[in-house]
Amino acid sequence: MISEQYKKFLSYVIYQVYPRSFNDTNGDGIGDINGVIEKLDYLKELGVNAIWLCPCYKSPNDDNGYDIADYRDIMDEFGTLDDVKRLISEMHKRDMKLIMDLVPNHTSSEHEWFKQSRMSKDNPYSDYYYWFDEPQNDWQSCFCGSAWEYDEQRGQYYLHSYAPSQPDLNWENPKVVKEIQDVVDFWVDLGVDGFRCDVIDQISKDWERNSNCFGPQLHDHIHALFGRDKVRHIFTVGECWAGDIDEIVRHSAYERGELSTLFQFDHLACGCTTKFRKKPESLKSVRDIIANWQTLNQERDLIHALFTDNHDNGRFISRMGNDGELRYESATCLAAMFYLLRGVPFIYQGQEFGLTNSHHDSIDEFDDIESVNIYKYFCENMTPEEAIEKINFGSRDNPRRPMSWTAGKNGGFSDAEPWMPLHSRYKEINLETDRNSEKSVFKFYRDILKIRRENDAILYGDFELVSKKEDGNFIFTRTYEGKRFIVICNFEEEAEISVETNGKIILSNYGRDIVSGTYRPYEVAIIEE
Ligand code: NOJ
Repeated sequence: MISEQYKKFLSYVIYQVYPRSFNDTNGDGIGDINGVIEKLDYLKELGVNAIWLCPCYKSPNDDNGYDIADYRDIMDEFGTLDDVKRLISEMHKRDMKLIMDLVPNHTSSEHEWFKQSRMSKDNPYSDYYYWFDEPQNDWQSCFCGSAWEYDEQRGQYYLHSYAPSQPDLNWENPKVVKEIQDVVDFWVDLGVDGFRCDVIDQISKDWERNSNCFGPQLHDHIHALFGRDKVRHIFTVGECWAGDIDEIVRHSAYERGELSTLFQFDHLACGCTTKFRKKPESLKSVRDIIANWQTLNQERDLIHALFTDNHDNGRFISRMGNDGELRYESATCLAAMFYLLRGVPFIYQGQEFGLTNSHHDSIDEFDDIESVNIYKYFCENMTPEEAIEKINFGSRDNPRRPMSWTAGKNGGFSDAEPWMPLHSRYKEINLETDRNSEKSVFKFYRDILKIRRENDAILYGDFELVSKKEDGNFIFTRTYEGKRFIVICNFEEEAEISVETNGKIILSNYGRDIVSGTYRPYEVAIIEE
């Protein structure tokens, strides 16, 4: 029996907006909140009914907004709090939900709490961060170098899991828990419908096991944030590198006041040894991983977060698909592989018209702190040409470049020079060109989302894997109350596929009308019985 709340969440289709690069309406070369409002009807037409807005709060932007200086105010370049209120109201008018990005693990060093905290060892904020006379361990920052930084002013070391300007909050201090509860309440009172919770697994450190995540208090902290009556109705998705089902079960499940769902990253990791180096894996491995998670989530009645792209990785189509001649086929095949499964689809801006990785010859054309730092590190051991090739493959700037809405000036993103160089392929790959094309990725996405929206079997149905391990395809069924859909996705090679069914093909990316026969590379057929 599927609860009403669970059904509500399963009906969400979430579009991730990276506001800096989405749409500039005031001509400063930087995207803004009004730019999101301007595109709501477009998103509605695509079939999206929720937006995850990456951080738009006051920030010095060392990590593009993931370094927050004020949780209750908006970055000047993006607009004002009133603009966000208008966004919420315009979204609600269209029956859309707004999911904000909550960053509870760290603040900016320019946040008032940190400014106070570093002043002395005995002020009201002195325990808001982790301060010690010596580094406590050899933890490394995710952006290279030690995670411990000496602060002259206070004469002690503090912990920063990311840049030195992103000090980790001390969640062992109950005042910090209360502060973040208040932040959650502030936004819920303004009308937001949920949160994507940045590196939520890191808010409890496991000092004993020498791990900076999944500490013993994580469960209590999540409960303290989202298990309260006031916020029980909202949707939450945790960013968590959870490795096993037990961890996921412990930290997600609406009924128990946990997170609604967690991102699971196994399928992203499988194509790369590190995010900067490709591994000769195929979509078969992706299939096995997602099919496994489908089954596990289904058995435990959990919600699977279905995604391929986000703002932290190279484009999935360039890593695991074909971003050249078969770009349309590959983009649509990936959409069918992920968005007809049981769970909540997340679509990252540009994915809906098949945006690929971008290519740049010089590190000067990159902005992201992770890319720039790791480039320097790579250059210690390889030539600049080798280093830049790796950056082009894995850089977070791939998905962060200004949106290519058109082939025209500045890709239709802004009237002014954009804050960072445009995507190298924007003249070829942009929304306008795609929509005017016979082979439109956008139209395929719109069709898939319509099928999803209109069919309970796709929304709530049981998942069953049909493909065998050795098959170069992903065939699965979705069944609910006697109704069944079959989804056939063939990978790279041409192959004979035979499936017994009396059903009809309702969508295909090669114009196919007979179910069994020779399938071409990345060919998809969706069959309704
Ligand atoms: C994960 C976010 O997705 C990433 O963009 C950010 O740099 C780190 N967390 C730190 O907040």
